[in-house]
Amino acid sequence: MREQAPLLWHEPMQKYIISRYDDVVRACKDQTFTTDNYVWQLEPAHGGRTIVQMSGREHSVRRALVAPAFRGTELQQKFLPVIERNARDLIDRFREAGRADLVWDFARHFPINVIVDMLGLDKSDHARFQGWYTAVIEFLGNLSQDPEVNEAGVRAGEEMAAYMIPIIQQRRREPGDDLLSTLCAAEVEGTQMSDQDIKAFVSLLLAAGGETTDKAVASMFKNLLAHPDQLAAVREDRTLIDRAFAETLRYSPPVHMVMRELAEDVELSGGVVPAGSTVICLLAAANRDPDHFADPDSFDIFRDDLPTGTAFSAAAEHLSFSLGRHFCVGALLARTEVEVGTNLLLDAMPDLELDEGANPVEQGVFTRGPASLPVRFSAARM
Ligand code: HEM
Repeated sequence: MREQAPLLWHEPMQKYIISRYDDVVRACKDQTFTTDNYVWQLEPAHGGRTIVQMSGREHSVRRALVAPAFRGTELQQKFLPVIERNARDLIDRFREAGRADLVWDFARHFPINVIVDMLGLDKSDHARFQGWYTAVIEFLGNLSQDPEVNEAGVRAGEEMAAYMIPIIQQRRREPGDDLLSTLCAAEVEGTQMSDQDIKAFVSLLLAAGGETTDKAVASMFKNLLAHPDQLAAVREDRTLIDRAFAETLRYSPPVHMVMRELAEDVELSGGVVPAGSTVICLLAAANRDPDHFADPDSFDIFRDDLPTGTAFSAAAEHLSFSLGRHFCVGALLARTEVEVGTNLLLDAMPDLELDEGANPVEQGVFTRGPASLPVRFSAARM
């Protein structure tokens, strides 16, 4: 498609698909491309509009309300211990067994548990949030529009609102040192978030920060296990985790595509896209554009075109966190979670290898990652 049909009209979806690196960069950065009617399920799933669907001043103000909580100092000072504790708690449950499924025993729980704790919610609610999260992401990925999945997604959103709104009101009265209290107090240009706005943002955090980081961790281990020399290098020199994360995001992006609508006609490779069209931007295809990356279909944490330094700066090269005004708010949190989690996992799992007979397959269209990842290792002596 990238070579022969860089601007593909997909008749059944009534949408254009673009796949070349330069076109996708333009769609993410150029403000002629908007997200005002972004993926139809987002609004009912989250119980309101969130920053992903906003543009212009509305987006800048709303983003400024939430983004400071995810910057470096705030993360390092407040939330690093939360991230470490949650990784340890999960690993402790399987480290003596010598076997684990890295998707179902670790990746699937880790980012959700971290977000619940960052918000200052009760730890006993991890399982409850996991249930809502599963229902909401199944709803978002429900391409076949199965009515039962849709109903379960809407029900989960309503249950979450019934649970969250009284807690939000309590934090307004008695603020604590947690993310929820920070969101309640945030004010930019005289604007604050309503209880409903905060609930919708928390729901967005679960979907945007859960499924993505979950898949990034699992895909990184799948890629490293498929390249034992690179796994050994990362085990030996932990500063390489940044490179392994950045290369995983390029090679196996958790979010395969984003959508944009056109406010006016735009010329891209392959022709003019008329105003009013919806364009699916294939981040995953752009990340493997041979005009931008040498030998793009190889996973190589030592590749020259992966900028050295942190994965965060490398994020400017692959498109897996998007670019421009909607660049991922949680990129630094995701990187910190992956770095902390990977270090602890490698310590707990010496001579890690895929379990006998395991053949991990990837699943998903919008978001993609291994369906399961059974591994074995020498059980740690406690
Ligand atoms: C936006 C990917 C982790 C919160 C985005 C977008 C992408 C993305 C592609 C842009 C969507 C668009 O342009 O339409 C990822 C990946 C992650 C990750 C690959 C993990 C490896 C997180 C985490 C959080 C988070 C941990 C927070 C807990 C958000 C939010 C937005 C966003 C709030 C909306 C930003 C806006 O519209 O201005 N993410 N994300 N993400 N992400 Fe992430």
